[in-house]
Amino acid sequence: MAEGNIQNIVTYEPADAIFVAVRNKIYMLNSNLVILSTVVTGPWGSDQCKICAKCQMKGPMNFEDTDNKVLVMDPFEHWLYSCGTSQHGICFLHEIEIQSNIAVIKETTCLYSAQFNKPYECPDCIASALGTRTVVVDKSASYFYVASTVNRSIAETYSPKSVSIRRLKSTRDGFDHSFHHLTVLPEYQDTYPINYVYSFNDQHFVYFLTVQRENLSFKSYHTRIVRLSIEDNDLQKYRELNLDCRFEYKRRRRRGLAVNPRDVAFNVLQAAHATKPGSKLAQEISARETDLVLFGVFAESHVDSMMPQKNSAVCAFPLSMINQAIDNGMNKCCSSNVHDKMLRGLMFYQHTEYCPHNGDKTGMHCETMIHLVSKQFISKLGIQ
Ligand SMILES: *[C@@H]1O[C@H](CO)[C@@H](O)[C@H](O)[C@H]1NC(C)=O
Ligand SMILES: *[C@@H]1O[C@H](CO)[C@@H](O)[C@H](O)[C@H]1NC(C)=O
Repeated sequence: MAEGNIQNIVTYEPADAIFVAVRNKIYMLNSNLVILSTVVTGPWGSDQCKICAKCQMKGPMNFEDTDNKVLVMDPFEHWLYSCGTSQHGICFLHEIEIQSNIAVIKETTCLYSAQFNKPYECPDCIASALGTRTVVVDKSASYFYVASTVNRSIAETYSPKSVSIRRLKSTRDGFDHSFHHLTVLPEYQDTYPINYVYSFNDQHFVYFLTVQRENLSFKSYHTRIVRLSIEDNDLQKYRELNLDCRFEYKRRRRRGLAVNPRDVAFNVLQAAHATKPGSKLAQEISARETDLVLFGVFAESHVDSMMPQKNSAVCAFPLSMINQAIDNGMNKCCSSNVHDKMLRGLMFYQHTEYCPHNGDKTGMHCETMIHLVSKQFISKLGIQ
């Protein structure tokens, strides 16, 4: 049993170790769930936090708890990253070594350099107090694909940005000071929260699952998938797709059986996991056994709220279908056959823009952002 809420958990397979984060601590457990060691990540300003002293912070240190919002392994190196809420969300790199079949943390580095970090642009500020999801991708270096929930006050003080791509410097003292990002426009930061529920990568893409309001003028919430291309270090190929998990009762046509319970839209994602399907399920949802499938637990929310009610359902979305739906949306937006003006959407990130199509000389090309709504109900596996 841990003291306090478990904030994150990640496994390190080469030594069957499990890292469990709580406030101010990360425990390393073996596969028998015995605690092997503990890293103290806070509070700042207390002498229990030995690794805090590794960060070159200027000025006096206020007492500040560390909620470990990010806990993730490097996909290539034997490195564990942890990013906490203290000091505007900076991260540590914990180098792991296996000694007689047991994982030990050999060294911890503070991913921060005072030089480039300012309130309006802070490359080393990763974790947001309101929640952050991160995928680390190994390219020529380790790249962090980061999505954070922000509000106005967080955005104004060492903004973690909504979505960003950051390269870890080879000097390991933080992240490259120039990086691409998207952030909810200041006027919507307090009224249009985007909650990131899950993140993963597959082949050429990184995905984030979100719960957010349907649009700026509509108060009900729904679930979206965000897709970023790994091949680009900018956000030119940022895409969003609405994921709709719906239970449709079979209509009873015989007279006398009037009961027709309502169909249910499970609009708010609670948890998700992407993995390969079993053979029977793969067949049922027209996926291949080698395809990745996104499994999500979706709940029906209270009216105009993201709070779940008690009913929930599991829906499965093959990644190939998600990618196809995004491509179809892009083709529709850019096709020369489209004569109606189509909005690109994403009004919380950008000002009103229309899709370009034949004859449109606005100079915008197709590979910019689009918000595509697709009613893709693919499988219903269960309902309580
Ligand atoms: C923004 O979030 C922070 C952290 O949870 C909180 O302390 C602050 O009150 C929030 N601001 C607003 C305007 O809600
Ligand atoms: C907002 O979403 C609702 C429901 O999907 C829709 O009816 C409405 O037209 C949308 N408004 C805008 C401005 O897109």
